[in-house]
Amino acid sequence: MIDLSTEYLGLKLANPLVPSSSPLTGDLDSARQLEDAGASALVLPSLFEEAIEHEQKELERFVHSQALGSYEAQSYQPIPEEYDSELDNYLSRIAQFKSSLDIPVIASLNGISTSGWIDTGKELQQAGADALELNVYYIAGDPGISGVDVENRYLQLLTDLREHISIPVTMKLSSQFSSVANMVSRLQQAGAQGVSLFNRFYQPDIDLESLHIKPSLELSSSMESLLRIRWIALIRGRVDLSIAATGGFHQSEDIVKALLVGADVTHLCSVLLRKGPDHIAVLKQQLEHWLQEHEYESVEQMKGSVSQSCAINPAALEHSNYMHVIKSYGQ
Ligand SMILES: Cc1cc2nc3c(=O)[nH]c(=O)nc-3n(C[C@H](O)[C@H](O)[C@H](O)COP(=O)(O)O)c2cc1C
Repeated sequence: MIDLSTEYLGLKLANPLVPSSSPLTGDLDSARQLEDAGASALVLPSLFEEAIEHEQKELERFVHSQALGSYEAQSYQPIPEEYDSELDNYLSRIAQFKSSLDIPVIASLNGISTSGWIDTGKELQQAGADALELNVYYIAGDPGISGVDVENRYLQLLTDLREHISIPVTMKLSSQFSSVANMVSRLQQAGAQGVSLFNRFYQPDIDLESLHIKPSLELSSSMESLLRIRWIALIRGRVDLSIAATGGFHQSEDIVKALLVGADVTHLCSVLLRKGPDHIAVLKQQLEHWLQEHEYESVEQMKGSVSQSCAINPAALEHSNYMHVIKSYGQ
């Protein structure tokens, strides 16, 4: 019997297959399907800072207009008692998922400013979230903002939250740092229990007829997993926190590679949106089969066995291999 269990953010998980934030993890029926198919935990869709801010502004506008209107009694309308805010809905969802599922439920916050997130973090913890993923989706387009400023925002947000909540916090990062390894290490020092590598930034497109910039959301492909695999290989062994591989994990082979380089779990999104929640069962069975064929007894045994510190040809992960790769083209 192969032991697929793994430890992630201090949680003992039955296997390393964790659906990441997506519409599938926000709906109780599909979350149940994911659990039945073998998902070992799930990350809820994010609670977005912009959505909360927008809602607050709308509410303020409403209250203000009512205050003006109250001079004419007939136009006054109180805020409906059953009004549920984005945050209220999110908290009820955590409570509902926790009472209906056996697997850990990881909440997700998406934002960059610290104001407001401390109280929100506390409420997510009180609602029963087992851990919190922070997705700092930040595009630094202002030439006045330096790399150090950007990094400090991440660190400040994490430090402030860590002072107020006790559940594990993991940071979902993009690959666009001058030194990913240094950033991960500083996040660890600031109290992060994990990192998810890497977020995908969605690239806006241009409509050539209307000349409008339009959002475009393409699902990932397996090729994207290689960037994650390289970086996890480079940092595993040099940092001491949980690592989730996210972005481009579609085939069981991609998942095996992530574990070999040292990921504790692989997050799955595009593959499940394409193939449905039940596909987790197929991936789990294929993963088990691979371990059996290659005479591993457990996921823990294979984890990190091809990280840079253990790899047979570690240089292939770094610059020294660049020249050989370029020269090999066409041979
Ligand atoms: C439709 C959709 C919704 C998503 N929603 C969120 C979200 O709310 N929060 C978040 O951190 N990531 C979100 N993501 C990103 C995924 O969780 C995941 O990190 C990304 O898609 C890369 O993994 P993949 O290659 O398996 O798709 C979303 C992705 C998709 C496609």
